[in-house]
Amino acid sequence: MRGSEAAHRDAPGRHGDVADRDGVAAGPADTSGSSAAALAPGGALSVPLVLGGLRLDRRLFMAPMAGLTIGPLRRSVRRWGAGLVHTEMISACGIHYGNRRTLDYLRCSPDEHPIGYQIFGADPDIMAAAAAACLQAGADVIDLNMACPVRKVLKTGAGAALLDDASRATAIVTAVSGALAGAAPVTVKVRSGVRAGEIAVLDLAPRLVEAGAAAVTLHPRSAAQLYRGAADHEVTRRLAALLPVPVIASGDIGDAAACRAVLDAGAGGVMLARAALGRPWLFTEILRDVSPPGLQARLQELARFVAEVAAERGERGVGYLRQLWPRFRRSGTLTREQSMALMGAATVSEVTALLTAARHAC
Ligand SMILES: Cc1cc2nc3c(=O)[nH]c(=O)nc-3n(C[C@H](O)[C@H](O)[C@H](O)COP(=O)(O)O)c2cc1C
Repeated sequence: MRGSEAAHRDAPGRHGDVADRDGVAAGPADTSGSSAAALAPGGALSVPLVLGGLRLDRRLFMAPMAGLTIGPLRRSVRRWGAGLVHTEMISACGIHYGNRRTLDYLRCSPDEHPIGYQIFGADPDIMAAAAAACLQAGADVIDLNMACPVRKVLKTGAGAALLDDASRATAIVTAVSGALAGAAPVTVKVRSGVRAGEIAVLDLAPRLVEAGAAAVTLHPRSAAQLYRGAADHEVTRRLAALLPVPVIASGDIGDAAACRAVLDAGAGGVMLARAALGRPWLFTEILRDVSPPGLQARLQELARFVAEVAAERGERGVGYLRQLWPRFRRSGTLTREQSMALMGAATVSEVTALLTAARHAC
């Protein structure tokens, strides 16, 4: 298997089986799996999840997020216990045409495994070839995007538009599963439906599973809602009751209580997204039922993350980091003044100097 300590291929059991509890990790450095932890959601989330031939040690995952889940962020959340990380959505057509920027998204490093590569597109053959390329690049899971609500994507028939086109959606899953021939599990990320109030996913998802999906991640909003309103995890409950494979819950989940609620609703795993931005230690907080680490430890993680962003992106990394300073402020890692100064920083060395000053000030 490609470089993963935490994922084990060829584990026994059918899709979604709970593997034995040996080696259950309650966080990145804790392999005790104590009975106290088992009572907390962190305990349930530390029961391994088997998808096809892949064993994931923890059921708390980092979501795919366009423009955000680049290598350094994926490594950062892995350090704090994420059981699976994802690339952002990658265009299958971009891979097909050898677009250089798209091909850059295929890079990952050994300490990011297990990793799901998320692809989007509307053509089954192009999606199948893209999945094979992702496998070659190191993917442990191939995730198919049927959730993106962006107009530019919808009008190509991809993303959430597939919720309205069951025959194309199932053809994509069939083609991708066929191309991978069991070398990696295929998962699908969906929304509830395209238009407000629609719950197309309850009809569609069983067909996707028949076609070969090993798990379905549900963000229970319609595409029309974008990110407005609350995620309706009653739909998660209904879907989990319907499917013979795990449903991974995504949407408005930011603490142990929210994890508990979706697990109680039948979810087989939980995906964090916005809540973990600027707060990678949230994984450990939930998995071990502990408080966040102290300010020095958080600033140390931030400095490491920034160094990795700079190594990967050079000066372009400064623009990327600007998206995240308010998140680090919200997590209490930066003060308002520090965050504002970092927003104004124009070079990596300015960013580094400001962070060094922040570490000396605490
Ligand atoms: C900036 C941003 C980018 C996102 N990009 C993707 C993406 O590339 N693929 C995807 O399936 N979902 C994407 N999502 C959706 C998230 O994966 C997640 O399902 C959603 O944000 C709900 O979870 P949350 O309320 O915990 O943030 C994105 C969300 C945001 C806010």
